[in-house]
Amino acid sequence: MLVSSTHRACIFVQATTGSVSAFGTNYVNPQPTSSGQRPSPCQTVFMFALKSPAKINVFLEVLGRRSDGFHELETVMLRTGLHDVLEFRSLPGTSGDPVRLKLMNPGIHNSNFPLDGQNLICKAAKRLLEWTWERSHNDQPHPSAEIWVWKQIPAEAGLAGGSSNAVTTLIGLNRLWRLNLSRGELHQIAASLGSDLNFFVEDVRAAVCRGRGELVTPVECGGSFHFVAFRPPVGNSTPAVFSALKIPPADAQRTPGSVLDAIRRGIPGLLEKTAFNRLTDAARTVNPQMADMMEIIERLTGRPALMSGSGSTCVLAARNRRDAIRLQSLISMIPDTASMIITV
Ligand code: C5P
Repeated sequence: MLVSSTHRACIFVQATTGSVSAFGTNYVNPQPTSSGQRPSPCQTVFMFALKSPAKINVFLEVLGRRSDGFHELETVMLRTGLHDVLEFRSLPGTSGDPVRLKLMNPGIHNSNFPLDGQNLICKAAKRLLEWTWERSHNDQPHPSAEIWVWKQIPAEAGLAGGSSNAVTTLIGLNRLWRLNLSRGELHQIAASLGSDLNFFVEDVRAAVCRGRGELVTPVECGGSFHFVAFRPPVGNSTPAVFSALKIPPADAQRTPGSVLDAIRRGIPGLLEKTAFNRLTDAARTVNPQMADMMEIIERLTGRPALMSGSGSTCVLAARNRRDAIRLQSLISMIPDTASMIITV
């Protein structure tokens, strides 16, 4: 049985027999569990896969430091076509941990991806149970799940891959475990896990995010945008970047009006001219390799490089797809510099 859902869903399967295909992998059903056992043929296996998208920030201003140690932000985020995939499988019975995490594509690029309780996916699952099950079922055994991750979004990249995975986990387990949490409740849990998760709860293409980043106002997106993304081998630590930041005085602070105009009207040329990130200078000092790369690519292409979030991913805002391909081929002339076209 296939059940269509939002754009996030790749496939939803409730299966007892047969063969199912999801994003290129053929599942001969029922799949062996990680313990090597196959569920019995009459046992219902739920599994579905959801996309977990990356974001980029096309505007970020820091308005001040807060008493809780965080910074007051005004930022504009775009949901991109770059995404991980999380596949959820129900597990029979219960185990100590609510979630068993597996990586579908282990390799050099995601060798640091933790598969234990450190992963924000596991933290999100645990928080979800604390919020729901443990409040109403006291000591009763809780449900559990296996989550298989197809990882494409790089870590420490300013693309919020971890935050996006955490929100996809909240949405997926809310469905798998039939918890019936409202969007408002998912927002509250998301905000308790980090500052840039709430954007993904809204499931919109563009939004202005304020507060720590958790107060999300969706924005109409009037067209598609193409970015050429590049990053140095070393990622940026978000706390390190915020510590190196010099907060601008109120009269030097920027507002996102022109960026929002570009997004609403779908004008890439205007976005290119007005995109801004206050964290850039701080990140340049934290990551000199990123600073060098930005300078070389700006000189080569004649275009401004924009850092996403706290970096280390930077993008050039292209004028259209052809322009993006041209920019990418220019960047490919720099030795050991990979780039990627990201579409919004
Ligand atoms: O909330 P999140 O885990 O994304 O934040 C990581 C770190 O980034 C925080 O510990 C803090 O140092 C910094 N941060 C901040 N102000 C924000 C968001 C993040 O200072 N609004």
